[in-house]
Amino acid sequence: FEAPRLAGRRVLVTAGPTREPVDPVRYITNRSSGRMGHAVAAAAALAGARVTLVSGPVTLEAPAGVERLMVETAAQMQETVMAHLPGADIFIATAAVADYRVAQPAQQKIKKQGDTLDLQLVKNPDILALVAASGDRPFSVGFAAETDSLEEHARAKLENKRLDMIAANDVSGGQGFDVDDNALRVFWRDGDCSLPRQSKVTLARALVQVIADRFQMARGQ
Ligand code: PMT
Repeated sequence: FEAPRLAGRRVLVTAGPTREPVDPVRYITNRSSGRMGHAVAAAAALAGARVTLVSGPVTLEAPAGVERLMVETAAQMQETVMAHLPGADIFIATAAVADYRVAQPAQQKIKKQGDTLDLQLVKNPDILALVAASGDRPFSVGFAAETDSLEEHARAKLENKRLDMIAANDVSGGQGFDVDDNALRVFWRDGDCSLPRQSKVTLARALVQVIADRFQMARGQ
């Protein structure tokens, strides 16, 4: 009998899009359905971990055995992740967090006006980079959604955000976002592996095995 790979470990996962308000009835978001992140959370639970999933707005059910916390904005996702960070062994950032938010969302519905409308956007904090820079950091795994030069861009994110690992997906031509299957190339400082196209559910299980291997190596176990 082999104990589940992540028994006794705490895993924190982000999933889905964020919604950045423009006014009380409008928002900026992206095409993430949350399927990849929910599959990763379910796979980590299957591997024996205690899993907390912080999800933006999605229509999916919470995976069995996973504590799910729903948020809307990047700021709320950041706050919820930071509140649940102490004691986390592994952080997996699958969410498609909005890079920018509206500087000053309007208090009232914006009325139709001239032919153009200017919205000023300001940068959101990078949740993954903040986690990876925190004291007593968990093993930090990012995702990279790329439309070109996949390895180059993914490795730049691995370096710049000081991650332990990054899982890159090609999101050109309708792949990756809001579909049932996906393929990943996984990179770490001195290695990489490819996980071929399959359902997000089985792909997430394969990814969690790769993460468990590297995590155990990093902890010298
Ligand atoms: O939800 P699905 O429909 O199943 O689609 C899955 C997916 C395509 C969204 C997923 O596989 C994926 O690629 N997620 C990451 C998308 C993304 O935002 O990538 P990025 O290259 O912009 O960001 C790099 C990393 O930084 C990601 O781990 C992201 O979660 C994190 N990030 C980015 C910005 C920010 N402000 N905070 C972050 O934590």
